[in-house]
Amino acid sequence: MIELATQKDISHSEILAQIAKDAHAAFWNKEQFEEELKLACAQIFLCRTQANKEPLGFVCFRVYQDEAELTNFAVKVQEQNKHFGTELLSFALTYLLNKGVKKITLEVSTQNAKAKKIYTDFGFKKVSLRENFYEGGIDAELMLFTA
Ligand SMILES: CC(C)(COP(=O)(O)OP(=O)(O)OC[C@H]1O[C@@H](n2cnc3c(N)ncnc32)[C@H](O)[C@@H]1OP(=O)(O)O)[C@@H](O)C(=O)NCCC(=O)NCCS
Repeated sequence: MIELATQKDISHSEILAQIAKDAHAAFWNKEQFEEELKLACAQIFLCRTQANKEPLGFVCFRVYQDEAELTNFAVKVQEQNKHFGTELLSFALTYLLNKGVKKITLEVSTQNAKAKKIYTDFGFKKVSLRENFYEGGIDAELMLFTA
């Protein structure tokens, strides 16, 4: 099941930080997840097996009027490739579009074939290249989704 995170999920910040670290997603520590969960412009979607259980994955956005930015996205390593990531993104995009979001941007490593495939399947398009964006001189693609 996928749900929008609430303040109650601050208790899961450590688990979210561990998922991000293990998956090599954008590394936010426990405190950063706590801060993000309190931010009015942040929307975090969690995937769990049952209500109130520990999350298996998350996708985070910051929303500014009709624009949103995907800021972090990961599924627990042992649970990857079971379509949880696709379900999370599908739920989040539907939710955001229903709230009037018209444009979503994100950055993805040029080397992250799986994430790029998922984003492309949902209609994100590459709009530019950000050279040396990540550690180790790895480039990022800026991708855009328009409603
Ligand atoms: C990216 C991520 C969130 C996706 O979640 P997931 O649950 O593993 O993904 P899903 O199972 O929903 O979908 C995987 C899809 O990619 C495909 N895939 C798997 N490995 C692939 C690869 N190396 N290259 C291209 N496609 C690949 C699968 O076949 C599947 O496609 P399908 O739906 O057509 O069968 C997750 O893998 C993750 O946490 N990765 C590490 C962190 C990360 O890269 N975050 C995104 C940063 S921008």
